[in-house]
Amino acid sequence: MMVLGKFILVAFIAEFTVIKVGAVRQKRSIDLIAAHSLISQERLPTDTAPSGYHLFLRPDFESGYFEGYVVINVTVQHKTYEIVLHAHKDLQIELKNATQVAPDDEELKKNSTEADAFKPQLLTIESAEKVKKKPLYQISFGSPIKPGAQLQVYIQFSGPLFNDTSEGFFRSSYPDIATKKAKWLAATHMRPNMARSVFPCYDEPAYKVPMVISVARPKHMIATSNMPVEKTTEDPRLKDWVWDTFQKTPPIATYSIGVVISELSSLSYNLTGKEEVPDISVTIWARPDFINAINDSTIKIDKTLKILAEIWGTPYPLPKIDIYALPNYQATKPADAWGLILFKESELSGRGSWHIAQELVYQWLGALATPFWWSDAHINNALVRYVTAYTTIQMQENETFSNWPMTMLYSIYYEFSKRYPHGKNTAIKQDSTSAKTELVFRMLNYTLGEETFKRGLQRFMADRQYKTFFGDDIWLCITEQARFDEKLPVPITVNEIAASWITKDRLPVLTVTRNYTSNTATLTQQVYLRERPHDVPDQDKYLWWIPVVLVRQDKLDFHNSTPFIWMRSEREIQIEGLPRSDSFVIINPEEIGPFPVNYDAKNWNMLSNFLNSPDRTQIPVTTRAKLLHDAWNLAFAGNLSFSIALDMTLFLKDERDYLAWDPVFTLIDHIGKHIDSSPTIHKKFQNYVRLLLSPLYEELGSEPKEGEGDGTSHLRSSLKIFVCQAGYSPCIEEAQAAYRKWMEAKNPDEGNPVANQYICPVFKWGTMEEWEFGLQRVLNFPSFRKQNERTYLLKTLAGCPNAPEKIEKLLTVTVLEKNVNFSDNDIYLLFSMISTNANGYNTTFEFLKKNWNAIKKRFEDKPYLWNSMVTAATNSFKTEEGLDRVRALYVEKQNEFGTADFVIEKALVNLKEEVRWSKENLPVIEKWLDNYISIYGSKNSMGR
Ligand SMILES: *[C@@H]1O[C@H](CO)[C@@H](O)[C@H](O)[C@H]1NC(C)=O
Ligand SMILES: *[C@@H]1O[C@H](CO)[C@@H](O)[C@H](O)[C@H]1NC(C)=O
Ligand SMILES: *[C@@H]1O[C@H](CO)[C@@H](O)[C@H](O)[C@H]1NC(C)=O
Ligand SMILES: *[C@@H]1O[C@H](CO)[C@@H](O)[C@H](O)[C@H]1NC(C)=O
Ligand SMILES: *[C@@H]1O[C@H](CO)[C@@H](O)[C@H](O)[C@H]1NC(C)=O
Repeated sequence: MMVLGKFILVAFIAEFTVIKVGAVRQKRSIDLIAAHSLISQERLPTDTAPSGYHLFLRPDFESGYFEGYVVINVTVQHKTYEIVLHAHKDLQIELKNATQVAPDDEELKKNSTEADAFKPQLLTIESAEKVKKKPLYQISFGSPIKPGAQLQVYIQFSGPLFNDTSEGFFRSSYPDIATKKAKWLAATHMRPNMARSVFPCYDEPAYKVPMVISVARPKHMIATSNMPVEKTTEDPRLKDWVWDTFQKTPPIATYSIGVVISELSSLSYNLTGKEEVPDISVTIWARPDFINAINDSTIKIDKTLKILAEIWGTPYPLPKIDIYALPNYQATKPADAWGLILFKESELSGRGSWHIAQELVYQWLGALATPFWWSDAHINNALVRYVTAYTTIQMQENETFSNWPMTMLYSIYYEFSKRYPHGKNTAIKQDSTSAKTELVFRMLNYTLGEETFKRGLQRFMADRQYKTFFGDDIWLCITEQARFDEKLPVPITVNEIAASWITKDRLPVLTVTRNYTSNTATLTQQVYLRERPHDVPDQDKYLWWIPVVLVRQDKLDFHNSTPFIWMRSEREIQIEGLPRSDSFVIINPEEIGPFPVNYDAKNWNMLSNFLNSPDRTQIPVTTRAKLLHDAWNLAFAGNLSFSIALDMTLFLKDERDYLAWDPVFTLIDHIGKHIDSSPTIHKKFQNYVRLLLSPLYEELGSEPKEGEGDGTSHLRSSLKIFVCQAGYSPCIEEAQAAYRKWMEAKNPDEGNPVANQYICPVFKWGTMEEWEFGLQRVLNFPSFRKQNERTYLLKTLAGCPNAPEKIEKLLTVTVLEKNVNFSDNDIYLLFSMISTNANGYNTTFEFLKKNWNAIKKRFEDKPYLWNSMVTAATNSFKTEEGLDRVRALYVEKQNEFGTADFVIEKALVNLKEEVRWSKENLPVIEKWLDNYISIYGSKNSMGR
């Protein structure tokens, strides 16, 4: 119901015509994600619009209130009796007066001399009050005001200075180093729609107008706002206070307004640009004892501003920027006012420059050019993400960041190929759609060329700066530039291309079938589905614009990313002029488009042979990773033989780049879970994992080395986790040695000295005694310690063990003996962990069968625990034999499942899918593993 309502509203917004300020523009956007909570918000009537504000604010730190007044210049667009403004319910408002300061259109037409002689006149107010249950304030006049009239509205107000959140106008304090007394500060955070909690206003991004801001402050404090101070004046009524009035801003959205009043310390410098560009004054602010910790950020700010000015083709638009490391800042995102950004202290002192870059990108895209409405904010955010990544890479902080875009890309591959993408979770949906849109920008950057793409963005910025934009304006400008540069033939538009990717919750998979006698190939696009079953309705209707960027072995060239051809929403095309039959092709290298590619077996084989040769590194690492990642995921989905997919892992024996290794860890995890139902194959698989990983694990050593990159540490820690889980003896001994120190500790309940990564291997491969010791620690866990440590222990006790006795013991203690140390939530958590491996669900199944009546009675009045136990016991089998056992239990206890009836019925359906998968794939996998082990396994593989 909710979702439907939002869709209707979005459709309504799409018809919306815009306020008169500037030209009349029509709304026409493609990126309609109905999920943004603000999209469906009520809009102000368009009869009047602001043309400028003068805002006066005075915080009272001690009493926790602020007061102020605002003079709003209003233009009347259509004949009206009223002005409607946004105002938060907590705001106390008093309308002082409203004056007509300029004649209306009719008066102007009648006689211009009279118009010149126009005298301001006070308007008769009929009423001025808040609208019930809406964040609105309505002023009604005695007689109608005609279009063209200019009004000035004078409103006084006061409101709470929040201290429990970092939103609206808020205060906070921090202890002075010397006196330890609290020092106050007050600041604003208006995004997305909190300006209305500070003063009555037109609180929609489209109403961008100039603002003059005046702030009262105690003389010993310093106030900053969007612009530099213009003048400071005494206040005759307030001793020791003065008013700072700041320069008038360019047109600004209400969410970009900002004010800070504090006694923080600062560091300033002038950023000198090119000749004709004026200096920008950059100031960072922090507690006096913290300012040194963020000293480095000035360098990052400096570099980033220069790169961004270059990308946008427009210098930083304001004369100054103030950046705060604000003590006790509580919001999850930085407050990005224009020219005034508030960060958490940790975000500015951290290593990378990503946080800073992202907020600085918003200074152009968001503040300088502003999305018209929240439906346009999605594309704004996605483009900000892309430009942030691009900028961070330009900053050459490769090591901390070079996972981009792979981590994000893999996660959207998994998400969009699910049976039900993002379930019903709109937050996940928003995030994955934003990630996908970011990747579409990346794709355009490659396929149109970096210069064309950048000039397209510059064209957009030149056109929309100081104004608002619709999502489509971005696509339009890129299209114009691409045509100008002859990169895109008429009538193709970037809108069309982008829309085919953004409007669907799916991604395509491209299948390449070569004809080796005619040197041609057939390319087919389909919906990419990974999880089974693949019975998604309307699959035929999904089609994408797919750039076919092609690399051929006989002319290896990864620099040219211009598409060989575009698949224009066509199911299938033929391409000609491919290389001879002894030469492979790679389509979509470097993950240029967010889609996997499948080939015929011969092409795959040529690829894996090449990767196994010393020439391997002629293929860039991102593409090596893609080939491996695509291959095993396509096999997992049932679209490629596992023998081909597993061949693609062979080159790793010579591979040292962590990016190329990344896909293999998810392979081990996902495939491992599927085959641990079959003990013999699982043993072989673990042997394979040890043979594959242990050489590099030994080479890197088990402890970090000084000066090594983030990539290497990341690789070492992944190797350690996976090689340990696969039972590699040296690694397990190391874990047990660390664990023994805990067992020998005098007071083991006081704290846990063992690194988390060691605990699972010990519980999995270690002795019953070691495991029992862990269980005792949970039972005796003192309340003063962090409970998440207890949760971690509990999860590993349940999720890791290989031995049935451990699981049986755990179930006996928690379920049968009803040990009071375990809450219902603990038990729920146990069940969900237990079912993650075959030992767990097998043991639970037997335990349930054996103690059926006792367990039923135990959970009599706790149906959700009963259901989750039945789920844990039945839902994870993967083999025919498992299916038979579950079926037998179902028949035997047919009328006794109670609330869990639907659970077991669903389990039986799932199991059939899993059994089919196992039947198709396990024999192939086993055969491949046998062969692998016969070649590489002669050495001792040091398994448990
Ligand atoms: C409001 O309008 C008056 C003229 O009526 C002008 O002097 C003033 O600068 C305007 N204020 C702003 C903030 O634009
Ligand atoms: C409107 O009210 C304010 C505050 O009381 C006052 O300073 C101002 O002169 C008034 N304007 C007119 C035109 O009366
Ligand atoms: C406008 O009015 C003035 C005096 O009221 C008069 O002198 C003048 O002729 C009029 N102009 C027009 C164009 O009607
Ligand atoms: C916020 O202010 C209220 C009222 O002044 C006070 O009782 C409360 O302790 C303050 N909370 C914090 C977190 O400072
Ligand atoms: C920045 O430049 C201005 C004048 O251009 C000067 O007054 C100011 O002192 C300079 N600030 C710093 C920190 O150098």
